[in-house]
Amino acid sequence: MFETLETLPADAILGLIAEHRNDPRDNKIDLGVGVYRTAAGETPVLDVVKVAEQRLLDQQDTKAYLGTFGDPAFNAAMQAQTFANPALDDRLATIQAPGGSGSLRVAAGAILRANPDATVWVSDPTWVNHVPLLGGAGLKLTPYPYYDTDKHVIRIDAMLDALRAAPAGDIVLLHACCHNPCGLDPTEDEWRQIADVIVERELVPFIDMAYQGFAGDVDTDAFIIRHLAERVPEMLVCNSCSKNFGLYRDRVGSLSMLAADSATRDVLASQASSMARTLYSMPPDHGAAVVSIILSDESLKANWIIELAEMRERLKSMRSLLNDALLEKAPDHDFSHLVRAAGMFCFLGVTAQQVGRLKKDFGVYMVDSSRINVAGITEANVDYLASSIAAVL
Ligand code: LMR
Repeated sequence: MFETLETLPADAILGLIAEHRNDPRDNKIDLGVGVYRTAAGETPVLDVVKVAEQRLLDQQDTKAYLGTFGDPAFNAAMQAQTFANPALDDRLATIQAPGGSGSLRVAAGAILRANPDATVWVSDPTWVNHVPLLGGAGLKLTPYPYYDTDKHVIRIDAMLDALRAAPAGDIVLLHACCHNPCGLDPTEDEWRQIADVIVERELVPFIDMAYQGFAGDVDTDAFIIRHLAERVPEMLVCNSCSKNFGLYRDRVGSLSMLAADSATRDVLASQASSMARTLYSMPPDHGAAVVSIILSDESLKANWIIELAEMRERLKSMRSLLNDALLEKAPDHDFSHLVRAAGMFCFLGVTAQQVGRLKKDFGVYMVDSSRINVAGITEANVDYLASSIAAVL
């Protein structure tokens, strides 16, 4: 039967990992997949993770199953860090999931079981895997305007108008911070306007927070979640610890579900549990146990906050570095949007054809949309990078 199948193209983001790895050029640059890199171009394990892993190794006395919900201590810590509002605890349930993607998949299942006719509104553009992941689960998706590719600004009025036209009960997928791919987030005032429309239209917020601590501090980056949680009866929040704890391959994430009351919360939790069981049975333990150790120890948590700030500041300075280099190499072009964005990503703002030339002629790798991961920029490669970009303009 398998002869009926066709080979599929490589994933738009993950495919670049292998392409870049197989490129023999010494001066190649990887601005593709969203992985943090140091000034030396490395992705080391965070120091605080190493300490927590050692503690885990010393203290762990069983590898027996934890169950569909994963580690309760991890779930409590993630819920506290996301909502910071104990008054909501009796309406909230949090389930550990295999990465942010796993949490999105469970959330999709919960939406489908509760309201199979609902449409999920997704930003245009959004993370390239949102559409296949949520659409593949069976959800109906429709875009709302978000990014103006010419002016490199958020289309806030068009976004608000689109959401005002959404039927009550529809779901709105928002990026809590560090929008992937454009790197532009609403201001606090714009977030309040978005929240007003969600409340007025009785829409259900569905928030993806994969970069908490990469735009501002962990509290600032959770602003829209905490603001909405005080105003809406129901919402879903997906968290990823891939980036902010550097636990990419350990698959650490969580899904928090806010219900109108604690009885409904319990029903929702049982549904999420059964979904986990049928999708992957239960999440992997190691990375979540590490996060749990860090977040429950004041000194480790303080060290994590410091390491997180170092990553955030480096990303910020690499944006300026590239913008400055481009000012010199391509003075007729405006790349100032690079420094207006936050987190790992932004669009360079070149065509797919120019992206192709950057790869072929210069060994510079980025997603076809010209999304770049600024963590791939270093003091050592910025000059070559800016010259390569200038050459294809
Ligand atoms: C990205 O957007 O590059 C990351 O979130 C990695 C991924 O899984 O796509």
